[in-house]
Amino acid sequence: MEMRPTSSDPYLPAERIEFPDGFMWGTACAAHQVEGGNTNNDWWDWEHQGGSPCVEPSGDACDYWNRYEEDYDLLVAAGGQSLHRFSLEWSRIEPAEGEWSEVALDRYRAMCDALLERGIAPMVTFHHFTTPQWAVADGGWADDRIVDRFARFCAKAAAALGPERLPWACTINEPGVVASVGYFLGAFPPGLRDMDAQARATANLIKAHAAGLGAIKAAATDAKVGITLAMADFSAANPDDAADAGIVDLVRHRMEDVYVQALATGEIRGLAPVDDEAVAGIAGTSDFVGCQYYMRQVLSAAVEGFQVPEAEGSELTLMGYASYPPGLGVVLGRIAASGLPVIVTENGVAVTDDRRRCAWIAAHLNVAHEALASGDVDLRGFVYWSLTDNFEWVLGYRPTFGLVGIDREAGLARRPRPSLDMFGRIAAANAVDPALVAEYVGA
Ligand code: BGC
Repeated sequence: MEMRPTSSDPYLPAERIEFPDGFMWGTACAAHQVEGGNTNNDWWDWEHQGGSPCVEPSGDACDYWNRYEEDYDLLVAAGGQSLHRFSLEWSRIEPAEGEWSEVALDRYRAMCDALLERGIAPMVTFHHFTTPQWAVADGGWADDRIVDRFARFCAKAAAALGPERLPWACTINEPGVVASVGYFLGAFPPGLRDMDAQARATANLIKAHAAGLGAIKAAATDAKVGITLAMADFSAANPDDAADAGIVDLVRHRMEDVYVQALATGEIRGLAPVDDEAVAGIAGTSDFVGCQYYMRQVLSAAVEGFQVPEAEGSELTLMGYASYPPGLGVVLGRIAASGLPVIVTENGVAVTDDRRRCAWIAAHLNVAHEALASGDVDLRGFVYWSLTDNFEWVLGYRPTFGLVGIDREAGLARRPRPSLDMFGRIAAANAVDPALVAEYVGA
């Protein structure tokens, strides 16, 4: 197979590029990856069970639960930040079915207030991979009861936060990953390898998005609510092989198309053995689609899990991905076909050399800008994953995505990296200047 370039450098902007007025800049994190002490969800169990695929448990994570203001001050120091995306931990707010923790709700109110006081809009995600143990014990996402349960949680949490704290909301983060990695590939909880369960989970995630969105908007009429999707630039290892081409269609359908189709047409299609079905409250109700792009994926029917690893010797991130900025343009184009506005709600890289992170950011912004300039993509903002290093699920604390390092040997001290400064300067200017990039990337 012919390898395409893997470094970000060929894609760096050659000239100053400017983003439209009102373009939003932000950073993201997720409750279980940063808060610490989330002992009541499925991931905590998964981390601690015998034979766990996790390299280490989440433990105290980054203690964001107590230190969020320190992190928000870093955003202010960086400058230019319009929003910060973080998630609510359902298992803290509803520790047992129908029991609500006012202390947890208070803390999330305080997080929103601390951002608003700093002039940064909260973007609140209601589900980011973790599900309360009590709901998982009852079948988790493969069980139809999860839809009403999630909607009830959204209603309670949205009412507690109130409209002023909910300018932006994401219902569910990367439902395709929840369903495929948890129910088909077996690497995330509940560790199933069952395509039918994956299909049921997918349908329930779509319905939960619709029901959750309705509940959030009932409490906060002006909230802009969307869903975030894990997207990749897929290609077949052998495009002439019908089996490889079929796998590309299947994986793309289950990761992206089934969701985008449902948002656009109101129907779930192509999820056998689940029947095709119209879903109430989904067509035309989402205010945006969150695009989360990290990598290209070469797929083959002959490989377990279908994903062909990148060639040895190519420049890879700590996640084992190649840097492939043009893929962002491909996935933005696919969402544009749905007619919905898009926000890049996650894009980022785990590397040890921060200069590579700076190059990654500038290169991906260049591609995002090209997509905007084409006039085909209604792109409203770019959110870097992640503000700080954090718990990268089964890979633990080894992959470092942060604009800010977390020194785990020094009491979780925050260590801002030059990339934080670069990202803040880009955001404040609403533009990327090659001379500025060169300061951070080097010659
Ligand atoms: C997830 C994050 C994760 C990031 C980097 C996304 O799939 O939403 O939770 O840390 O990718 O792997």
